[in-house]
Amino acid sequence: MQQSPIVEIQNVSFGYEAARPVLREVTLAIPRGSVVGIMGQSGCGKTTLLRIIMAAYMPTAGTARVLGAATSTLDRERLYAMRRRMGMLFQFGALFTDMSVYDNVAFPLHEHTSLPEELIHDLVMLKLQAVGLRGAAHLMPAELSGGMARRVALARSTALDPQLMLYDEPFTGLDPISFGVIVRLIRELNDSLGATSIIVTHDVQEALGVVDYVYFMAAGRVIAQGVPDEVRGADEPFVHQFVNGLRDGPVPFHYPAPEYGADLELAGS
Ligand SMILES: Nc1ncnc2c1ncn2[C@@H]1O[C@H](COP(=O)(O)OP(=O)(O)OP(=O)(O)O)[C@@H](O)[C@H]1O
Ligand SMILES: [Mg+2]
Repeated sequence: MQQSPIVEIQNVSFGYEAARPVLREVTLAIPRGSVVGIMGQSGCGKTTLLRIIMAAYMPTAGTARVLGAATSTLDRERLYAMRRRMGMLFQFGALFTDMSVYDNVAFPLHEHTSLPEELIHDLVMLKLQAVGLRGAAHLMPAELSGGMARRVALARSTALDPQLMLYDEPFTGLDPISFGVIVRLIRELNDSLGATSIIVTHDVQEALGVVDYVYFMAAGRVIAQGVPDEVRGADEPFVHQFVNGLRDGPVPFHYPAPEYGADLELAGS
């Protein structure tokens, strides 16, 4: 029997203001166990889509089914229960600066479980071992490099063994080596936890190495999708531009704005 997808977005539309739709009839499915990339230009609606999936916002049309239930049907209690099965690592996802690495990772365990301290200790060590930082447990965040801090954040966001992980630009500001380390860790953690992961990123080339499937978004719509090899070979001009990092192509560089001259103070005087 085929298992139902862990996330199923059907014809979802959404706008922060009624007059300006940000997501337009988005349909996608994230199969259990997979790592799926969501890519697209800045402002196309990727973070907004994650917010719909974590039920921070409800679709204005269509349905978002996450971990077995349509988000708009959940009461407060079930919503919290659903979020506890999810882990999130957001852009600049910061550590608590006044807590050690150990305490950062232990935090969600203290907050959401009543496990005995010895067990929490062993779980923290297990999570830190998985990201290669067991030896750094006693350090404070200020003593970590950017890549190490990101790995600790990763350990913290997986502390409760989430079934669904959401990553929003987890690589921002990392050098290529740390970046490669994180992207592989995301894959390994996903597979060892038996989780499902969604990665939002601009960093196409690196992400294509570990994801099972990719969705491309533009202006609030899904405009292309496929397995990494299909995406690499795509003729679709937008995907080609994006995958090859070309500045010129169908994606405009500028946010819609009035005529440049009209925006310059001196031009009219
Ligand atoms: N809280 C908010 N209130 C109002 N408008 C918002 C809000 N968050 C985002 N937007 C608008 O929604 C649109 C999509 O934003 P979103 O953050 O989803 O883009 P993104 O694809 O994640 O971009 P980036 O790659 O730069 O992070 C943008 O036009 C943005 O201005
Ligand atoms: Mg974003």
